Amino acid sequence: MPAVTVEFAENLAVITINNPPINATSHAVRSGLVDALADIGQNSAVSAIILSCHGKTFVAGADIGEFNQPARDPLLPDVILALEASPMPIIAALHGTVLGGGLEVALGCHYRIASATTRLGFPEVNLGLIPGAGGTVRAPRLIGAENAISLIANGKPISAATALDWGLIDEVTPADNDLLAAAVAFANRVSSLRCPPALATATTNSQHPANIDWESLTAQTAQKARGAIAPVIAVKTIRKNLGLPADQALAHERQQFVALRDGEQSRGLRHIFMAEKNVAKLSATRDITPTDLATIGIIGGGLMGAGIATACLLAGYDVVMIERDDAALASGHENVSRHLQNSLKRGIISPSRFDQLLAKLTGSTNYAALAPTGLVIEAVFEDFAVKKDVFANIAATVGSDTIIASNTSYLDINALAGSVASPERVIGLHFFSPAHIMKLLEVVCTDGANPQTLATALSFARKLGKIAVPTGVCDGFIGNRIMSAYRKQCEYMIEDGAYPEQIDAAMTEFGFPMGLFAMQDMAGLEISWKTRQRQAATRDPAERYVALGDYLCEQGRFGRKTGRGWFMYDDAKSSPRPDPDVTRLIDQESARKGIKRRPFDQIEIINTIISAMQREGDKILQEGVAQTADAIDVVMINGYGFPRFRGGPMFMKHNQASSALQNFTLQARKPSPLR
Ligand code: 3HC
Ligand code: NAI
Repeated sequence: MPAVTVEFAENLAVITINNPPINATSHAVRSGLVDALADIGQNSAVSAIILSCHGKTFVAGADIGEFNQPARDPLLPDVILALEASPMPIIAALHGTVLGGGLEVALGCHYRIASATTRLGFPEVNLGLIPGAGGTVRAPRLIGAENAISLIANGKPISAATALDWGLIDEVTPADNDLLAAAVAFANRVSSLRCPPALATATTNSQHPANIDWESLTAQTAQKARGAIAPVIAVKTIRKNLGLPADQALAHERQQFVALRDGEQSRGLRHIFMAEKNVAKLSATRDITPTDLATIGIIGGGLMGAGIATACLLAGYDVVMIERDDAALASGHENVSRHLQNSLKRGIISPSRFDQLLAKLTGSTNYAALAPTGLVIEAVFEDFAVKKDVFANIAATVGSDTIIASNTSYLDINALAGSVASPERVIGLHFFSPAHIMKLLEVVCTDGANPQTLATALSFARKLGKIAVPTGVCDGFIGNRIMSAYRKQCEYMIEDGAYPEQIDAAMTEFGFPMGLFAMQDMAGLEISWKTRQRQAATRDPAERYVALGDYLCEQGRFGRKTGRGWFMYDDAKSSPRPDPDVTRLIDQESARKGIKRRPFDQIEIINTIISAMQREGDKILQEGVAQTADAIDVVMINGYGFPRFRGGPMFMKHNQASSALQNFTLQARKPSPLR
């Protein structure tokens, strides 16, 4: 079927776009639309045109794949001008997700009618872009500058009801299957009327609002964007365009769009968008139908177990929780209930849904309750003997085709798999805390796991709404292993002359939401202290060891929860402050080791951190722990706060000039409280 078709029925012409999967405005669609308008122009019986899309959505944007190729005429802005110039009114019939270039096409039409479930928005900033086909010009003129700014600079879509309220669309129809009939009725109502004035042909603009404080809006946007430039450019472009005649405004928008599209940030963001879509596509599972799961077993109702249980409930699964004793079970139930209460407070679920979900959680101290489960995930203490015992209990109860998963952070899942019958159904599901909120899930493929197990685990992850990254078994998998590698380098820098506040300031300046030391303080320092104590006997004595974290724990400085860690905290919510005692401790330790401290600037700090990530990333790739470099980027961005607009450490390695890390720009933002 061609990308664009036209059908004539009495006085109406219906243009249909058919370009699966998302009806992107690829070249075939753009030229198809131009041809369709020419065809319609030949038919004097036509008095109105309906523009609709085949499949599950109206146009959801420009074709991202084409951004890396030379632009081919007709360009989208010109196609939209042609729609807008039609002497017959064009009614856009909207369903699904009307996004980016799709919304711009709709704005080029004279009227818009949408089914009630439609979502509309400009997500361009998420790709490091601004709308490039008239969005910053037409949207403010139609819905006012404030609404347009919120739509364009935030990148979040709105519902059809809000769109109607804002005047972005003209009518809402209850269901998708009524849409065409409603569009026909609408078209017949307006076919004899003159087309409303085109949004982008007016030479003056009367919508310049006096009440916007542009300076503070720009500053707030920059602060929220944490170094990403597109949202700020979006605000500035809208501001400037409001004062320009439409043709100049369109040209200005295009110039800003092209500069962003060809820039480093958008390339990084497009890279990670596609990497997230592709990371879980494995040849081994391509032809496998995943097993249907209805009931999930969870062992342990602590921090992780309760979070995982909540994620499963929210995704529609029944959950059976097993705990050690009644008190621990009650606490696990309470933890889940608290998470769901928060979802209720945030409007994610309704009160009746809250009750329904909690009713789907059952608990027991007896493993026999696991009988109906298709997948059991253990999230008990990080102790091999405890986990091995739990695995034996699970295997003794469930069928041999029930998948058994471990949420271990570091332990050898191959060894755990080897301890039960049918090890081919054992897998790692490494969730991140809070498990019902964090999008990342490392799916750890044990050496013996079969494709059915892997395919089912990946499909389960998708159903939970997670970004699943397949990884092999090793100490720390992809993410924790890379974090250990760069943490070590940070500790070396501390002994050699830097201070925690300088390292954290460099990291936040680079775009991390928080630095490594503040993050450790938040997580609690005692966990890694215990790990180091466990590893002490087997540690290579020749390897450089930094004991500063141990000294802090010996003084009871376990981080934020004790008011002291690498930093000091005035109360539970306050920002970290450098602590002179820690400065003294560090200076003394350097002196004790005979290290002459030297200054580190932010560029050197970031170079050291990113290079450590890349070196470890290369090793992980060589060992086959990660399938692709993209997988590493997806993990670091979604689990460890690596700034998304930089595309990930491996993207930086392969896509920047050779002196790359010397050249990256640190963004000028509100000074961090640590500096
Ligand atoms: N270009 C090319 N391919 C795209 C695409 C795009 N803009 N958006 C999605 N796809 C592809 C995906 O890679 C995926 O491919 P696959 O089937 O080979 O894996 C397929 O479409 C389906 O995507 P999803 O798996 O994401 O499907 P969902 O149903 O979950 O979500 C969606 C659909 C909401 C449209 C989501 O894909 C999305 O948010 N896409 C991005 C939309 C966007 O950013 N639009 C703006 C683009 S920039 C622009 O329009 C500039 C303009 O101003 C000039
Ligand atoms: P936690 O201490 O909060 O919870 C562990 C729970 O397991 C407790 O409720 C305990 O009663 C229960 N439990 C212990 N032995 C049991 C047994 N034999 N049978 C049934 N229940 C038992 O620990 P947390 O933080 O939830 O960690 C659990 C696992 O998740 C660990 O393997 C950890 O490494 C891993 N993990 C932890 C992350 C974190 O951020 N805390 C992140 C990712 C993984």
